[in-house]
Amino acid sequence: MSLTATRVIRMFTGLMVVYQLVLLVTDLLHLMCRSLYLTLRTAWCTLSPPRPKSIVGEVVLVTGAGHGIGRELSLQFGRLGAKVICLDINETTNKKTVSDINLEGGAAWGYQCDVSSREEIRQAAAQVRSDVGEVTILVNNAGIMPAKPFLRHSPEDITNIFSVNIFSHFWMVQEWLPSFITQGSGHIVAISSIAGLMATSNLVPYCSTKYAVKGLMDGLTEELRYADRHPNIHLTCVHPFIVDTGLSKNPRIRFPSINVITSPAQCATRIIDGVRREEEVICIPGRDYYFIKLMNILPREVYKAVLDFFDTGMDEDDE
Ligand SMILES: NC(=O)c1ccc[n+]([C@@H]2O[C@H](COP(=O)([O-])OP(=O)(O)OC[C@H]3O[C@@H](n4cnc5c(N)ncnc54)[C@H](O)[C@@H]3O)[C@@H](O)[C@H]2O)c1
Ligand SMILES: *[C@@H]1O[C@H](CO)[C@@H](O)[C@H](O)[C@H]1NC(C)=O
Repeated sequence: MSLTATRVIRMFTGLMVVYQLVLLVTDLLHLMCRSLYLTLRTAWCTLSPPRPKSIVGEVVLVTGAGHGIGRELSLQFGRLGAKVICLDINETTNKKTVSDINLEGGAAWGYQCDVSSREEIRQAAAQVRSDVGEVTILVNNAGIMPAKPFLRHSPEDITNIFSVNIFSHFWMVQEWLPSFITQGSGHIVAISSIAGLMATSNLVPYCSTKYAVKGLMDGLTEELRYADRHPNIHLTCVHPFIVDTGLSKNPRIRFPSINVITSPAQCATRIIDGVRREEEVICIPGRDYYFIKLMNILPREVYKAVLDFFDTGMDEDDE
């Protein structure tokens, strides 16, 4: 090769390196500006939250609508003018929720459904489609919480906790997400728990399913937001501390004025407000969100010392 040709190639390679460096620096600058802007926007939205969107006419499906948080969510969604689809394994309590909504002048439909069964979910969905139409807000709420030491959970127990608390979310999302994608909009709400952010004894299978709910919601959020493909499909993952529904049979709380138990009504109001403002993560009470963040930067041993200090958890169920 001639001397000039080699020089030209060298110069060209050099220019490419410079070009890539410039690109990288521009990208970095862009990321920094964007991060600053988003941080300020988040702070602004925390101080002055956006107006909650209307849910008049939305078709809201709530699982576990017969009791507790699910019942309160259904009643309050009904009062806000949504069409409420109530699902529960318990036909009696579910019918009560539906008739209470109708009595208040709201619109509600009830379906008995064991959400741990994929087949029952499919049948209920077909029925909902023919009676009401496509769902626009899906609330995966139904859950169970047997509390006992790890080795006393039978294999059947463990499988059942997973079927009700997490597999049901997969079957429900697979059932309704296709129509969200077709319509270009929709909202998926999942009730995890504070136990889905911070594990505790006597609840190992329960905590595992609640961490899994967070995994499902985080993963799905990433997949749906990729390349900005579905800007109007929203996801909300909810992490309540203890709610006074009877689900927590023997809670142990050292500082009840700090670790506050909420009522099902308060809890539902906070969830619906968060859904209407399109929040992705909701802790109830709200300060738990910052508490968990703080705990997670502590060294492991300090984390445990703080847990010991608060001495808050679940004693095993009475047999
Ligand atoms: N109560 C709490 O302290 C608390 C705290 C954090 C998270 N959560 C979560 O909130 C959700 C609701 O809890 P809750 O306290 O309102 O419970 P709850 O026991 O008061 O009500 C749960 C409802 O779900 C129904 N259900 C149970 N298994 C079902 C199944 N296989 N198919 C259909 N329906 C079924 C029950 O019949 C009941 O009506 C659960 O996922 C729970 O893990 C509760
Ligand atoms: C439904 O719930 C009610 C009230 O908690 C209870 O008395 C009844 O036994 C339940 N029914 C079934 C089939 O579990």
